[in-house]
Amino acid sequence: MKNITVIGVGYVGLVTGTCFADLGNRVVALDINETRIENLKQGIMPIYEPGLKEIVERNVKAERLRFTTDYAEALRDAEFVFICVGTPEGVDGEADLRYVRMAAESIAKVMDHEMIIVNKSTVPVGTGDWVADIIREHQPRPVPFAVVSCPEFLREGSAVRDFFNPDRTVLGSTDKEAANRVAQLHLPLRAPIMITDLRTAEMIKYASNAFLATRISFINEIANICEALGADVKEVAQGMGYDKRIGHHFLESGVGYGGSCFPKDVKALAYMAQVHGTNPELLHAVMGINQMQRKQIIIKLQDLLGDLNGKTIAILGLAFKENTDDIRVSPALEIAEMLHALGATVRGYDPAAMDHVARAYPFVQLAADPYELAQACDAIVVATPWNEFKGLDMARIGGVMRQKVMVDGRNLYDAERLKALGFVYRGVGRGYNGALESHNG
Ligand code: UDX
Ligand code: UDX
Repeated sequence: MKNITVIGVGYVGLVTGTCFADLGNRVVALDINETRIENLKQGIMPIYEPGLKEIVERNVKAERLRFTTDYAEALRDAEFVFICVGTPEGVDGEADLRYVRMAAESIAKVMDHEMIIVNKSTVPVGTGDWVADIIREHQPRPVPFAVVSCPEFLREGSAVRDFFNPDRTVLGSTDKEAANRVAQLHLPLRAPIMITDLRTAEMIKYASNAFLATRISFINEIANICEALGADVKEVAQGMGYDKRIGHHFLESGVGYGGSCFPKDVKALAYMAQVHGTNPELLHAVMGINQMQRKQIIIKLQDLLGDLNGKTIAILGLAFKENTDDIRVSPALEIAEMLHALGATVRGYDPAAMDHVARAYPFVQLAADPYELAQACDAIVVATPWNEFKGLDMARIGGVMRQKVMVDGRNLYDAERLKALGFVYRGVGRGYNGALESHNG
């Protein structure tokens, strides 16, 4: 049992801290946001993440997990301090490190015993060394410490499962003894642990996310070609995936990747590459295709409905992906903004993200459920593939729409079934089953 402190109780920090507590460690979770901490003390979660609330409650009750806003208290007994603050996109596409700097300075100021600082946030290559410099500068008196990079690979919506079932743990440090001690914390997870230097570990995170984003843009490009040639990309991806060298994961075409990680990580990697004099051509293509995927939805709507000015469009699903309330870089909301700019009335529904949307996108008219959403709409756009959308009564939905038009940005529905119900249906990259046929009448 070790004493662990996590800094930041967002999507990464709260999951990491809580799951380490569940492994039997004593965890203090700190956040500078007082409301978040007060709420957590009362059992109110700051984020929606399946399964998390129960584990938080269990570990608070067992006195393995507590919350604070006070750095001195949080670090009093700490052996390991995990930095899990956000690293949002800066103005030029670089990672904005102000929160990491604040966390490092605050840790240094109250550091009175030896500890290992573990960086979980996604940070540019070289940040680990920079964090060590900041800590040295701000310590009131020199206290030994080590910095270890331990990038997170948690997907929102399945973060708890991902924590307990990692494919690997990557650790980077110049201090091998410190890396070994962090490795010990991860032994119960029974996954391969790779120890390397700091910069390589930081790069593994960017390269992994950029590769996954590349797969998505690749399959989206194939989808567009399928559409033009009359093939079905879902089946193409399935057929490709059986090849073990390719695999089935991350080959779903749709509205392009979103979220708080892929868009900013690909951009930050390209930015780093350029600053250091290399030309990341592939990364630029990946980003270009991703933006185009959102626009394809608008083009399909225009093709089917003509001028969108004055039309009412319903967006089914608003979070950036299913099983989360996170709307950061949500393709659904980028599509909503484009529709709004074209003069359409935009309606929306999401099982978890509507509070966030109400605050940030007041022009989106929110509906209580998918059936209310469809009322008198000229088209439905499926933007987030929530499982519960699959079971909707599509005849009922079609019955209340002004025009039975669906642009399925996630290929969630069966084209033939919808067409049998009288819908004009367009999926993504489904030339044969969807677009071409309905287009040809
Ligand atoms: C994380 C990572 O850390 C980021 O690098 C990665 O790429 C994506 O996931 P995330 O957990 O999604 O970020 O961030 P967020 O949900 O915004 O949570 C950050 C938390 O840190 C917030 O609760 C914020 O209040 C807190 N914070 C921020 C601090 O406690 N101290 C600070 O100085 C700044
Ligand atoms: C990602 C990483 O996967 C995770 O390891 C960590 O680094 C944080 O960032 P996350 O952004 O939470 O996780 O979700 P993920 O499941 O990776 O999806 C990212 C985006 O890609 C979503 O918008 C999703 O809908 C989209 N996606 C994913 C596709 O369009 N097609 C796919 O086949 C898979």
